[in-house]
Amino acid sequence: MTKGKLISFEGIEGVGKSTSIGSVKKFLEKNQIEVYSTREPGGTKYGESLRNILLNNKSKISPEAELLLIFSIRNQHIEDVIIPKLNSGIWILCDRYIDASIAYQGYGKKVSLKKIDMLIKEFTNEIKPDLTIFFDLSYKKSLKRFPKYKKKDRFENLNNKFFDDVYNGYKKISNQNKSRVKIINASKSKEDVNNQIILELKKKFKNLS
Ligand code: TMP
Repeated sequence: MTKGKLISFEGIEGVGKSTSIGSVKKFLEKNQIEVYSTREPGGTKYGESLRNILLNNKSKISPEAELLLIFSIRNQHIEDVIIPKLNSGIWILCDRYIDASIAYQGYGKKVSLKKIDMLIKEFTNEIKPDLTIFFDLSYKKSLKRFPKYKKKDRFENLNNKFFDDVYNGYKKISNQNKSRVKIINASKSKEDVNNQIILELKKKFKNLS
């Protein structure tokens, strides 16, 4: 059996990842591929309950503790969901993965990138995405899309400087991993964004139509 592929979706808040993941799923299914959508932090019962703690405004968590919590959630997700599904030929669409830790905890919260690299090396069972889609939209533009009456979570409450650093971090990661990370102009219409993603999928996985 051919192994499945892992595709991750990255970007700051409000860039339209979730909607696009749904469209990518439909596109791949039309190509007779079995697809499973999941997210980080989360993806398992354990992970989803820790996600609530992580995003709760009342939680006091230091940047390094936060990093370790996210990697604990990720490790369980990889062992219970990602590896078994990839091994049975299923393609995984993951809403955020390792690059989010480099961008948010590394570039955003200034945890040493060396420590994050170590966690990636030692605790992800060498599971790297086959393709990463980076939704390129600045914080200023993404703010305009944030629903007015939605209560902000622990991350969404962070300031402009944090999100600018995260955004610039993502751009650095994209430029350093050009063959894996593809940059999508997320300021365009939903349809245009989907077309850009499908183009990248077709370029990467040659037998898609
Ligand atoms: P979501 O709102 O996109 O589901 O993500 C929840 C938050 O978790 C989001 O603000 C980004 C943050 N996050 C990190 O800080 N580091 C990570 O490694 C991941 C996966 C998410």
